[in-house]
Amino acid sequence: AASAEYEAENATISKGVVESNHAGYSGTGFVNYDNVAGSYVEFTVNSAQAGSARLDFRFANGTGANRPVDVTVNGTTATSNLAFPGTGDWTNWQVAATTVNLKAGANKVRAAATGAEGGPNLDKLTVTTGSGDSTPPT
Ligand code: GCU
Repeated sequence: AASAEYEAENATISKGVVESNHAGYSGTGFVNYDNVAGSYVEFTVNSAQAGSARLDFRFANGTGANRPVDVTVNGTTATSNLAFPGTGDWTNWQVAATTVNLKAGANKVRAAATGAEGGPNLDKLTVTTGSGDSTPPT
């Protein structure tokens, strides 16, 4: 399997801000989604070949309520309402995973909040392809 990491703070952000006030993130920060449905982070993911890919979103949610997002790939919904449950604290980061199909080349992978509270704090996306896409990140 091959993995690539994409920092949320380097992605395209609609209705969200890059922040760094909660420790434990990778890179230079994370995206704080605005507390509104439709806020999103969109990653440009390059895939060497067409096929399935495991997406691991690293996030924190210091509330007790799920902050689900719809995951779309190139404009088509791949996973509806992927769950981002509470992690206990904004400094406690966990991973939410799903598997999607990518085309060869550049893919637009968007994580759009569906609830009125928006998405979680999103740190990064790890994309794993090949060998059953089975390698979970830490
Ligand atoms: C707090 C927290 C933010 C978080 C926000 C939210 O303000 O500090 O990092 O994004 O809650 O509920 O979305």
